[in-house]
Amino acid sequence: MSPRTHKSPAYSDINLSNWKDYPDIMTDSLWQFPSRDRSGTHVGDYHGNFIPQVAQQILLRYSKAGDVVLDMFLGMGTSMIECRRLGRNGIGIELLPEIAERSNARIEATENPHDVRTVVVNGSSADAETHRKVRTALQGFSRAEADLVFLHPPYSDIIRFSNGENPDDLSTVESDEEFVERFGEVARASFDLLAPGRFMALVIGDKYAKGEWVPLGFQCMQECTQAGYLLKSIVVKDINGNERGKGKNANLWKYRALKDGYYVFKHEYVMLFQKPQLKAKARR
Ligand SMILES: C[S@@+](CC[C@H](N)C(=O)[O-])C[C@H]1O[C@@H](n2cnc3c(N)ncnc32)[C@H](O)[C@@H]1O
Repeated sequence: MSPRTHKSPAYSDINLSNWKDYPDIMTDSLWQFPSRDRSGTHVGDYHGNFIPQVAQQILLRYSKAGDVVLDMFLGMGTSMIECRRLGRNGIGIELLPEIAERSNARIEATENPHDVRTVVVNGSSADAETHRKVRTALQGFSRAEADLVFLHPPYSDIIRFSNGENPDDLSTVESDEEFVERFGEVARASFDLLAPGRFMALVIGDKYAKGEWVPLGFQCMQECTQAGYLLKSIVVKDINGNERGKGKNANLWKYRALKDGYYVFKHEYVMLFQKPQLKAKARR
């Protein structure tokens, strides 16, 4: 790798000497995107996918060209499509075989101007066998650990990604408590698979059930900090552009909110965490 000629954070290519040259890279904690990027292979047809601009913002700030990015909940591959466009290698884990296959086809159909590689692993992100496959894929990139991790889990059972036939599906849990506990297993695994000093991005929303706001975001955040991550930022993202933000039933929700005393969801969270650097061993 050639030495850098400019001053950058250790984990990105941003040239700090020209920091005013990045008007499109966000540094504020409120994200609003007027519409979803539907260019190229970003079709936006998978219920529950995030908008590509979320992946793009995270990749530009927290990874470098040639890095290896790991997505523990690949879905239809939005993060990996952006990796191709921005010149990052990738490993994506998806539980459902049909989704993993379709996602792989979509990623491979994406233009690859930087000649990067993507590996799609079909399996559960909580499973030791899957982690072994990820380690093998990392070796193929001459890495022991990933340089950036995405966690975009189901938001408990808000969208059920399978019919309950797969016991590892985090969206078919019996309770929100079980969801948070099982998310915690994935958060701990992601910590082990990430290089020290590098970042993890958690994208998550809350839910409303039985007359109460369920703060899934903060509960999952706690799992991440308990896993060892340092919390760097909580970004509030406007969900307009997501399926949930389309507002088909907007009037009905407004009526219910007025009747039952709550506010209708218009946001989700993008939380940024850093794995601490290894401490140098104290000299005797
Ligand atoms: C919110 S979606 C991710 C969407 C993705 N970011 C995209 O833009 O397409 C969550 C995905 O996690 C998958 N999933 C659920 N449980 C899983 C598990 N234990 N391991 C791996 N993937 C899982 C679901 O099938 C679903 O595709």
